[in-house]
Parts: sequence; C-alpha cells; structure tokens
Amino acid sequence: MIGVGYRKDFAEEWENNPDSLSVDFIEVAPENWMNVGGYWKKLFDKKLQDYPLFTHGLSLSIGSPDELDFKFLKDLKTFLDSNNVVIYSEHLSFSKCDNAHLYDLLPVPFTEDAVKHVVKKVKSVQDILERPLVLEIVSYYSPLAAEMKEIDFVNAIVQESDCQLLLDVNNIYVNSFNHGFNPVEFITLLPRDKIAYIHMAGHLQVDDNLIIDTHSEPIINPVYRLFEFSLKWLQKPIPVLLERDFNIPDLKEIQSEINELKRLYNKSLQKEKEHVS
Ligand SMILES: [Fe+2]
Repeated sequence: MIGVGYRKDFAEEWENNPDSLSVDFIEVAPENWMNVGGYWKKLFDKKLQDYPLFTHGLSLSIGSPDELDFKFLKDLKTFLDSNNVVIYSEHLSFSKCDNAHLYDLLPVPFTEDAVKHVVKKVKSVQDILERPLVLEIVSYYSPLAAEMKEIDFVNAIVQESDCQLLLDVNNIYVNSFNHGFNPVEFITLLPRDKIAYIHMAGHLQVDDNLIIDTHSEPIINPVYRLFEFSLKWLQKPIPVLLERDFNIPDLKEIQSEINELKRLYNKSLQKEKEHVS
C-alpha cells in the first residue's frame, strides 16, 4: 500500500481530475482537519469515501514535561473513530513546554528518566484512544543531554510501553548523515515486529556536513536504497507514505514518486514470494 499526504494545496485539482493521482490511502494531521467545516470538509469527506485514512499528529508532544491534554485526546478519539482511521501516528518528540507551543518537533533527551516519563504518557494515550500509538523516530540536529544511545532509548520505550513504530526512512538517513552513524545498522537494531508504518520524503543538503529535513524536495537515490533495504529486512507488507510538506509540485511529479515507491515495493514483495516458494 502506498499513500500520500492529503493537502489543501492539491485537493481541488485531485477532486476535479480523480485520475491525476493513484494511491491506496491518504494521510492527514488530525489537528488540521478536526475542526474544519464547510467546503473543505465536504471535499475531505468525499475523499474518505474512496480512500482509507491514516493520521500523523503534530501536537501530542509525548516527550514534553507537561501533562497530556485530555480535552484534545477526547476530541482526537472522536475524530479517529468517526473516520475509521487505520493508524494514528505521532512523533517521538516534544513541541510544548509549560503550555507554550514551540512550533518545532524537538528531540526528547535520551535518558532513563525520559524513558519512564514517555512510557507513562504513551500508556495513557493508548488507554484513552483505545488503539496503539505508532511513534515516529524524528530527525534532530543536536541531541539533548544524552545519557544513552538513541537506539537504546527508542527500544526501551517500545518495549516498556508496547507502542508501535513509524520508520521514517528519510529521518534515519538524515540523522545518520548529520551524526555520523550507519543507517543500515541502526534500522536492523530496531524491533522489526513493532514497525507498523513507513514514511518516505525528500530533504535539503545545506552544507557538506548538514542535511535539513525539509520535506520540500524529491526523494534522493540513497534514501530509495535504504527503503529497499528496509522492505527486505522487514519481510512483511507494510503501508508506505510519501510525505511532501513544502514546495509542493504538481500532481504529475507527485505521481512519479508514488510510482517509484510502488515499483520498489512490488519488487520487494515479489522477491519475498520467490524466497518463500
Ligand atoms: Fe515522517
């Protein structure tokens, strides 16, 4: 299954010409659509008649010291239930502190205390939403007060909270480039059975030693290669999303990236079948 982030930027174009984009599902940030009404809501509801909905939240802020926002979680559950949402994913990060929104997804310190704190919050979220939380490993530029390795931090959270993981292949590539580690090794140390969803995106290299995770460019070849490796390693079909948040191209260009993802995905499934038979 290959999906696309549904955006107002191309919603009308897609509605007027349904054949201009061929995908298996759509993804939205629930915060952007929970309180939408009128024309845009009608357009969105029409799309939901044809496509399963996946979600990728922005404001849960699972890593912040603040309490969870229970009113938000109640509204979120209503949105997820009423739209038969397949997956609710969020970022393993924080974006709020002392109730101030920071407008960025910042990394949680890789510490034992943070593991305990995040695990407690993940369990509450899963209880309230009555579904697994699928957490994305985020890109970051400077680790905060790290006391342990990132991989050990992620694995401890998954093991202790029983949440699932979103493998954003581009994030792992960006982090491996910026922080000098082997992305293949990092991926193989993740709990394979807990990976429920894949993201693919483009980024911007701004310096010899720095990539910014912009989601504003086409996916580059090394990220496609890491994607192929991830599919082979996972040994199971898994939904894959193309993320494009800025510098949105026309639907033809989006479709050509979707086609490449589909081609690699189908090739991997075929190889898997040959391997089994
Ligand atoms: Fe992502």
